[in-house]
Amino acid sequence: MDNTLNFIREKTRGFEPEIAVILGSGLGDYTKGLDGIEIPYGEIEGFMPSSVKGHKGSLFFGVIKNKKVVIMQGRFHFYEGYPMKSITFPVRVFKKLGVKDIIITNAAGALDLYHHPGELMLISDHINLTGTNPLIGKNDDDEGERFPDMSEVYSFQLRKIALEAARELNIDIKEGVYAATTGPSYETPAEVNMLKLMGADVVGMSTVPEAIVANWLKMRVLGISLISNYASGVFKNKLNHLEVIEAGKNASDKIKALLDLIIEKI
Ligand code: HPA
Repeated sequence: MDNTLNFIREKTRGFEPEIAVILGSGLGDYTKGLDGIEIPYGEIEGFMPSSVKGHKGSLFFGVIKNKKVVIMQGRFHFYEGYPMKSITFPVRVFKKLGVKDIIITNAAGALDLYHHPGELMLISDHINLTGTNPLIGKNDDDEGERFPDMSEVYSFQLRKIALEAARELNIDIKEGVYAATTGPSYETPAEVNMLKLMGADVVGMSTVPEAIVANWLKMRVLGISLISNYASGVFKNKLNHLEVIEAGKNASDKIKALLDLIIEKI
C-alpha cells in the first residue's frame, strides 16, 4: 500500500482527489478530451492490467466542475481470476488519497420488461451472490469495523443528488436492486427467474465488491447501472459482450452529462 501511495503522490504531485469514479464496460469515454494525469495500471503496484474488452486500464487524475477526481478507466473482476482483495485494492487506495465519495458504474442486464436497454438505473441496494466477500480475512481496525453495517450502502444523499441531476437533464432514471454474480457466463433463464423472485431488478458481474469495501471505509457510495441488455430469457435473445460495449458507447453522452452534473452538485 505505501509504495502505491508514494508512487501515485509523486506522479500526481500530491493531488488529493475528493471523488472517485469507477467506469464500467464501454463507459471509458468519460475522460476523453479532459486534461489530467493518466497512469496505466501496469505501472501501479497492486493494480493489474485490465484484460476485458471495453476496459481501458488506466487511472486518471483531473478536475471536473471544480472538483478533484480520480477515475478508474476499467476495473478488475472476480471472473478474471483476481482475488477479491485485489479487485477492491483501488478503493482502499482512493480512501487513503482523501476520497470521500465514490461513484461506481457498470453495465447490467434487465431482469424484466420494466427496465430497458439504454436506460440508467440508480442502485438502491444490492444482493451479493458472488459466494464470497472482500472483507474476509484479517480486519484492519484502522480502516473499518470487523462487522460493518450494510443498511445504507448506497448513500441516500447521493441518490437524491443523482435524481435531481437526472430530472434537470430530462434523463429517465429508476432506482432498483443490483444482483451481483461472479460471471463470466451469463445467467440461465432459470437463474434470471430466481433473481427476480429474490427482489433484484438488474444483474451484473461487478460493483458489489467495491461497494462493500467503500461502505466499510465509510465512503459515500453512488451506484449507477447502464442497462445494456435484457437478461437471458427475458426476451427471445442471445447475449453477447459486444452488445454490452455498444450500449455503453450509445449512452456515453447521457452518462457524461449526468456524471458531470452529479459531481458539480456533490
Ligand atoms: N448478466 C450479467 N452481467 C451483465 C449482463 C447480464 O445480462 N449484462 C451486462 N453485464
